[in-house]
Amino acid sequence: MTTIAVISERADEPRVAVSPETVKKLTALGCKIRVQSGAGKRSRFTDEALSAAGAEVVASAGDAVKDADILLGVRRPARDQLNGLKPGALVAAILSPHDDSADLATLAESGVSLFSMEFMPRITRAQSMDVLSSQANLAGYKAVIDAAAMFEQAMPMMMTAAGTVPAARVFIMGAGVAGLQAIATARRLGAIVTATDVRPAAKEQCASLGAKFIAVEDDEFKQAQTAAGYAKPMSAEYQAKQAELVANHVKTQDIVITTALIPGRPAPRLITRAMVDSMKPGAVIVDLAAERGGNCELTQADKVIDHNGVSIAGPLNLAGELPVNASSLYAKNLLSFLESLFDKKEKKLAVNWDDEIVKGTLVAKDGKIVHPALLKGA
Ligand code: NAI
Repeated sequence: MTTIAVISERADEPRVAVSPETVKKLTALGCKIRVQSGAGKRSRFTDEALSAAGAEVVASAGDAVKDADILLGVRRPARDQLNGLKPGALVAAILSPHDDSADLATLAESGVSLFSMEFMPRITRAQSMDVLSSQANLAGYKAVIDAAAMFEQAMPMMMTAAGTVPAARVFIMGAGVAGLQAIATARRLGAIVTATDVRPAAKEQCASLGAKFIAVEDDEFKQAQTAAGYAKPMSAEYQAKQAELVANHVKTQDIVITTALIPGRPAPRLITRAMVDSMKPGAVIVDLAAERGGNCELTQADKVIDHNGVSIAGPLNLAGELPVNASSLYAKNLLSFLESLFDKKEKKLAVNWDDEIVKGTLVAKDGKIVHPALLKGA
């Protein structure tokens, strides 16, 4: 029988890697799930609920991992948390593989097979395993809700006997998964929404959600999407044209939500200090790229700052602020991933190391880093 361990995350991570629903399904797959007591607490998955679903709730992290075949996590585990796992065990989590490569190498040296969920290939078969999508969608929603709460005015237009309250103007920069959900949420709240992106595919998607699309649509724009669906880094020339367009637009906006990212690189700088200076007092910026250095020059990670009356938030884990939803979806992503590693008839682990999903997500095996994206230039 395959034993799966789940342990408590670090203090600043409210999410957890299993839910009562996935415990049930993993049990049906022939697994035994061992969860550290309290691991699901901040996602409102009580020990009782997890136990009723079939998990064995144990007192400590050490008890959970002892002789386990698989460790599931949200964040990258610490090296000592791997002690006690079976040799060659599988570890799946959001590993931030581009960060702290020395630490990642230490994890690799332990001999476990490390899977980084954010490397999930964007193919149809892997859609249900796509953690970036499941979490970014929630983050996009929460960014607008937080911005609306910080904004000291109403979002929708209101026509009253005492006068008209104007609709808020919301600008979404980066119309990927988070940005599109932000557009939809801002529209539901009644704002006038505009959006920008460097990928041409985003234009129609924004329009279909009711946002006016604003972008420098030159030849470079027409080729800005990689085969994997991500944005390419843009040339200095394009960035200058984009900055001019954005500078003129941002001045008139009440709320700006930035979500622009390029995998494995620092976030593109889209809002300069001068642009913030041009904004109205009371305006709000929520920068979802804070973890990668921020799309706004003034963003401070994990803080809300006030710059001449403009509030700038740099949240690091917005999906984690909706832990019940975020954990449920993340746990489902992991469940789908694990199902792909099992022989369902025999009910046992049968990893096909040549499978596209396995190759795409496998970061380390047999003591070594193996992922091509991490070996480049090594
Ligand atoms: P992301 O989180 O890497 O980036 C967010 C957005 O920022 C992207 O739309 C990107 O084009 C944009 N961006 C990057 N540089 C920019 C700049 N300088 N200025 C303005 N915008 C900039 O991307 P995300 O949200 O993870 O996905 C991007 C796209 O991938 C999705 O919209 C979708 O089309 C596709 N996708 C495909 C999936 C599948 O086939 N399974 C699953 C999820 C997404």
